[in-house]
Amino acid sequence: MPITEKENQSNISVARNMIEPLRSRRFTSFPGRVWLKLLASVPPDTIPDLTDFQAPITSLITLQPEFAAILLSIDELDPLEMIQKSQDTIFLQNMGSDLVHLMLRQLINNDASMEQALTSLRKAYLQYVFRQPADVQPQHLQTMATIAAQCFNNEYVFYETCEEEELCKELFANAEPGDSGTFSFVAKVVAYGMYHPLHSLSLSERQMQILSQYGEDVQKLIDRRIRDDAIEKNLADGMPSFGQIENAISKKVRQQYEEAPYPRWLDFVFPEPRPFNTYIKDKIPFCDDVPRAGTVQCLVAGCGTGHHAITVATRFTECSVVAIDLSRRSLAYGARQASRYGISNIEFVHGDILEVGALKRNFDLIEAVGSLHHLEDISSGIQALTEILRPGGFMRIAVYRRSFRDRLKPARAFAWERLQTFTTSELRAIRHALMTQKAFDIETAKALRDFYYTGGFRDLLCHVQELSFTPMEIKAMLEKLHLQFLGIDYSDTPAIKAAFLAAHPDETSSRNLDVYEEFEASRASEMPSLIKFWVRKNG
Ligand SMILES: C[S@@+](CC[C@H](N)C(=O)[O-])C[C@H]1O[C@@H](n2cnc3c(N)ncnc32)[C@H](O)[C@@H]1O
Repeated sequence: MPITEKENQSNISVARNMIEPLRSRRFTSFPGRVWLKLLASVPPDTIPDLTDFQAPITSLITLQPEFAAILLSIDELDPLEMIQKSQDTIFLQNMGSDLVHLMLRQLINNDASMEQALTSLRKAYLQYVFRQPADVQPQHLQTMATIAAQCFNNEYVFYETCEEEELCKELFANAEPGDSGTFSFVAKVVAYGMYHPLHSLSLSERQMQILSQYGEDVQKLIDRRIRDDAIEKNLADGMPSFGQIENAISKKVRQQYEEAPYPRWLDFVFPEPRPFNTYIKDKIPFCDDVPRAGTVQCLVAGCGTGHHAITVATRFTECSVVAIDLSRRSLAYGARQASRYGISNIEFVHGDILEVGALKRNFDLIEAVGSLHHLEDISSGIQALTEILRPGGFMRIAVYRRSFRDRLKPARAFAWERLQTFTTSELRAIRHALMTQKAFDIETAKALRDFYYTGGFRDLLCHVQELSFTPMEIKAMLEKLHLQFLGIDYSDTPAIKAAFLAAHPDETSSRNLDVYEEFEASRASEMPSLIKFWVRKNG
């Protein structure tokens, strides 16, 4: 008997409730196939917050004994064997699941052994398409489209051999004009898309139309990878700007982010909007005199690719946001995404934090997350921002933590000894060399999402300018600038917040950077890369 819509909804909600305990959990040993079956039983598009399930899904897949067996025999498997074995272990096709396809299409993989398996599978597909294009089946096309989407997401960070480079170049060597309509041609385009963005193929409008007829998988590849690129180019060219970019370090940093906009982000989950004063009261509990402003004027300073600006713009019931950055390409990425989500209360503007006075605007809230540590002198950046902050206004700042960044020093030095061109292929080769060297440990870097895509890797270990700070240095700087320290922002680290409050329940400790420095030293290994904190300009 067919199930009714109501029964179907109820099954989905039972399955969702069952997987809820898996949220954000990373398995360290394989708990059994029943967990995989449970995951596979949930219709993928009913999981709105897939990011929270990335760790459980990935760890369950990579801990399967069959997965370990594939990794061990990777060099001996012929392409078809590799393809067949991967279907069930990686994509859970034997369970009829599309979950892994969706995860790899929407997110950036952040697991090294998954990357190793996908890198080999990609090579197997390329060899297969090259040698036997006529044998390619629709399900192969689906998996190649997923790998192509993942490689687009991770900006082609997977290591590629000289053989793969050559095969890619040769894929269309003997193509005839009439080939465009054939399934083999579509397979070759998708195979090529696993290694390069499709806009680099310069396909004609007619060829794109033909490709679109091969189902939603191929259609999406074309929309995201060809049309988005054209939209962003237009937006970047027309971006309004303020002031001049004169500072030599700003010019270098600008060049880096024009070449590699950061961060790479793909999907946005809307927060529940709240009034400004309720929000501030929640973040800074002792702060009682927050005005019930009408529309909160916010500045996001160094907004990158816009995720941060969109988060601020949707966080408050009434607000308007100015989002500035040195990189036009980053701003264009943000503007395209804002329009995709129907968000209209952000103005993206090109310019240097050091020149914000030229905006001729004042703000109730300024957020500078991950940008100020790329200045030559952080104090002059904070000073410039303070001048356009209204009296009594709030600033949320996040800068690199010295104790954390020091752990990345060997990896940074390793990269910088080899850096010359900063091209994708050079960054990929350096990353591969780093992953295969044994001289020092790179676990700190490998635990970060940034390690798993090209722009993130560049931002993490190949940055042209970065500073880092201790709590005491922050204290000295804020005193000099006459800014009131209001406390650490623990939004992303609730466990650390709980530990701090357990050790220091009194309110004054939360506003004391000396106490925080001692606390940080006692739990150094748990502290994240950024120190995030709140400050206020005197009223
Ligand atoms: C690491 S990204 C952080 C982006 C964003 N705030 C976030 O958290 O996702 C740093 C951004 O700061 C921008 N930036 C660095 N120095 C800047 C300056 N002097 N003026 C404006 N933007 C700057 C860079 O162009 C880059 O997009």
